[in-house]
Amino acid sequence: MYNFTFHVPTRIYFGKGQIKHLPEIAASGSKTLLVYGGGSIKRAGIYDQALELLKGAGVEVFELPGVEPNPKIETVRKGAELCKKEQINSVLAIGGGSTIDCAKVVAAAAMYDGDAWDLVINSKLIKAALPIYSILTISATGSEMDDTAVISDLGKNEKWATAAPCMKPTMSILDPVYTFTVPKKQTAAGTADMMSHTFENYFSMEVADVQKRLAEGLLKVMIKNGPIALQDPENYDARASLMWASSHAINGLVGNGCSPTWPIHMIEHELSAFYDITHGEGLAILTPVWMEHILNETTAPYFAAYGRNVWDIREEDDLEAAKLAIAKTRSFLFDTMGLPADLRAVGITDETHFEIMAEKASPSGKKAFYPLTKEDIVEILKKAL
Ligand code: NZQ
Ligand code: ZN
Repeated sequence: MYNFTFHVPTRIYFGKGQIKHLPEIAASGSKTLLVYGGGSIKRAGIYDQALELLKGAGVEVFELPGVEPNPKIETVRKGAELCKKEQINSVLAIGGGSTIDCAKVVAAAAMYDGDAWDLVINSKLIKAALPIYSILTISATGSEMDDTAVISDLGKNEKWATAAPCMKPTMSILDPVYTFTVPKKQTAAGTADMMSHTFENYFSMEVADVQKRLAEGLLKVMIKNGPIALQDPENYDARASLMWASSHAINGLVGNGCSPTWPIHMIEHELSAFYDITHGEGLAILTPVWMEHILNETTAPYFAAYGRNVWDIREEDDLEAAKLAIAKTRSFLFDTMGLPADLRAVGITDETHFEIMAEKASPSGKKAFYPLTKEDIVEILKKAL
């Protein structure tokens, strides 16, 4: 296990009615930028609730509506300009990962003199950010409790993750009731995303018992509760379990001390950059293909452990157990959760951009679980078609 620092300063208010803590935002000043997406928070009544509480706390509210799924740099720029012009002193995201990610880079760009895109492609330039608050409405990305934001410039077919400690939210409100209205497609995609975060951290060569056993526990929770939420969207306990599991899949708890290189995410971000697809669906399509592609004598024991500890597979031979585990994963994602099973199902029908995608998604040189070459990535994409 490598040395690490674990520091999550985000104050979490978890559970029904925790929005009552929203007035704490006033501690960061009297002007906030409310960032939200395409309107789900208005339909669910969260917008009205939040405005009333903010008004009661004497906070003046400015708005950045219309954040896109796969948030665009143009929207970030708009938010940063508003913050500078109005001397806003905090940013409040109400929504999913896209909204929170957009709010994070807005908060950093508000304190940066150049163009916001600089901060997306070079995280070292992020030196400070306005305090970030979030009210989460969909369980998936873990953005509510991590330091990362993913922003796209679709004009250039670019989608990159950036990260900085100052982009960890100051406070996040996690009320599972707010996720009751998440549609089936997004519930399934969110479950695939949180599973993928866990896989990306879990499949590493390091001996790290705490992280690995925690990861297996999180995967079991997701596998149990994803289908319940799909069938019974207002099942509080299932929604609550997914919400808390997704935060821990990516907040450092199961990744620190290991050397995850996030290959599936690197490839998926290229799919989204070129085709603007739903992140979790892209991950679901790629995951079993990646597992099959890299299965060999070295990786088999890791997949076998996953199969035995998560899926209760009793097969003693590692290679056979690994194959069974991959088959279980495939069947869970595509049969149980109803996620699209190949790239054609999300509208990607040819190999046109595979070479350039593979070029961009190629590994960063860190110690990988299985280092993928450009040729490997092209192969994976072809198998996913
Ligand atoms: O825009 P609105 O109207 O709010 O609708 C959203 C959107 O259409 C809807 N939705 C959210 N909460 C809802 C709801 N609909 C009904 N009821 C609710 N309670 O769901 C749709 C998807 O929302 P989005 O925020 O895009 O989903 P998600 O949370 O999956 O975020 C995906 C983005 O996060 C990035 C992805 O790349 C993608 O851009 N990621 C961020 C990460 C991070 N910050 O650490 C890591 C991830 O790996 C990921 O890359
Ligand atoms: Zn993800």
